[in-house]
Parts: sequence; structure tokens; C-alpha cells
Amino acid sequence: ELKSGPKDFLHISDFDKATILKIINQAVEVKALLKSGDRTFLPFKGKTMAMIFAKPSMRTRVSFETGFFLLGGHAIYLGPDDIQMGKREETRDVARVLSRYNDVIMARVFAHQDILDLAKYSSVPVINGLTDYNHPCQIMADALTIVEHIGQLEGTKIVYIGDGNNIVHSWLLLASVVPFHFVCACPKGFEPDEKTVDKARNAGISMIEITNDPKEAVRGADVVYSDVWASMGQKEEAAYRKQKFQGFQIDESLMEIAGPKAYFMHCLPAERGIEVTDGVIEAPNSIVFPQAENRMHAQNAIMLHLFGL
Ligand code: CP
Ligand code: NVA
Repeated sequence: ELKSGPKDFLHISDFDKATILKIINQAVEVKALLKSGDRTFLPFKGKTMAMIFAKPSMRTRVSFETGFFLLGGHAIYLGPDDIQMGKREETRDVARVLSRYNDVIMARVFAHQDILDLAKYSSVPVINGLTDYNHPCQIMADALTIVEHIGQLEGTKIVYIGDGNNIVHSWLLLASVVPFHFVCACPKGFEPDEKTVDKARNAGISMIEITNDPKEAVRGADVVYSDVWASMGQKEEAAYRKQKFQGFQIDESLMEIAGPKAYFMHCLPAERGIEVTDGVIEAPNSIVFPQAENRMHAQNAIMLHLFGL
């Protein structure tokens, strides 16, 4: 039997390999059901979800709200001006109040400590919809997309090019649970968090490489992955970062070095012409839209797991 794990979904590494693979398999099943047009599977009937957004979103908001509705539940969007967590009201008060109305809380925040506090004081599951530190729902959807296109995640070579940010941290935390080869090529000074790199390495199951050479990194890649150079909360650094990241754009020539089997992935939103060329996003081996679609299916499966359904 699988361990049930913590009540919240905050970091992929809070779960064991069997649970992560079970969630991905359940995502495949529920996705097939929803794509067949079947609308009779309503496990979230009578349930409500509070969705707290301190930052903008398209995919996270729409995929959570739509997915929860399609499985019978009702989701409430709380934007940056609504509850103003930590400003209008302390996080621990928000957690305890929402827990009394809602069956689950999803939150997108700046400081990672905010989601830890929310989970600590909430009596219902809290799901991390992105923090400055990590983005676990995205990487679960990415893993699902890789399973669909390559057959399995285990043993694949995933090469991320760009900033050592929240997306990279979630890849590293996944690599501490499921074995694959993860490479992050970033400019000097933009490496991922050292403790997180150590955690992935110390787990001893995945090959982890951090390098400053994108051309060397992409050789033999199964996936070449990109994200914006300036994340939410860093937009005023965009011009400075654009300078620092010269040579790290994913263009046609870099994809050619990667080789014909390499898929292109990007969590989106993308800045075409900055971290990736238009041609690479539009190429036949780009799977950015299946990847976006899978946010909904991965998250539905995460919620089914948290509810013990
Ligand atoms: N990838 C992602 O999380 O997109 P949004 O910021 O639009 O939610
Ligand atoms: N690293 C990006 C991801 C957006 C989905 C950000 O945090 O803005």
C-alpha cells in the first residue's frame, strides 16, 4: 500500500516515487475520461476550493478552476487585490478562516514561507500554485507530458537552459524522487539554490549537472526546456538579465545540436525572441501546448490524491 504522505502538495519531494507515479497514472486515466466527453465522474461534488493569487496567472488559474468544476466542484478566485494575504490580514488568519469554508486551498505567492505558513495553519490541504522557490504542479504536468510523448520519465535527459529559478528547483526535487538525467545550463551567478542541488545529488538516484555551457549541455537531450529570464517579481531586472543571458537563447542552431529526438518544452508564458525563438516554439517537436493542457489533468490527479479519492 502507498503511504498517504503529507496533507499538502508543496514540494514534489514530500512524496515517494510510488505516489508520484500513481498521481501521473491517475492523471492519464482521468484525462482520457474527460477527453472522451464523459462528464459523469464527479468526485469533487459538493467541494469548494479557494484559489489565492498574489501574482498574475493564466494557466494555473484557468486549469485549476476548470478542472475542479469538471469534476463536480466549485472554485473561488481570489486575486491580488482581494484578500491581500500578509497585508490586509495575517497568513495564519487567512488559513484558518478559509479552512472553515473550503475543502482545499491553492495559492500562488511570492515568499515560499507564505505557503509554508498557509499549510501550517490550514486544516485542509494546501496546494502550491508557484512560489519564488518552486512550482510543483508545473513539473508534475511536465512529467505527465514526457510520459505521453517519450513513454517514461525514468532515464530521460532533460536539459533546462536559462535562469536557475523556481522551475529548476521543482525539476531538482523531482529528480530526488524519480531517476533521470537533469542538466541546468545557466549564466554564472544565476545557478539554482545550492541546498536544493545538494538534495537532488544526495538522493543518489539521478544524474545532476549544473553548467554554464548550453551547447555542451544539450547534446543528446530528450527534452530542451526553457523559461523566462525574468520571473514574476523580477520584471524590473529584465533589461539587466537580457544582457547577462546572452548566449542562452534556445534557437534553431541549439536545437540542432540537441539532435532530432529532442522535444522543446516551456512552462509558458514565453517571451518569443528573448529566451526562445519563435521558430523553436512553432516547430513540430515543440510540445508546449500539450504541456499547458496537462496542467489541468496533473492537478486533478493531485487533488484526487490529497482527498484520498
Ligand atoms: N505556467 C504557468 O504557471 O502559467 P501561469 O503563470 O499563466 O499560471
Ligand atoms: N519562472 C516563472 C514561471 C512562470 C510560470 C515565474 O516565476 O514567473
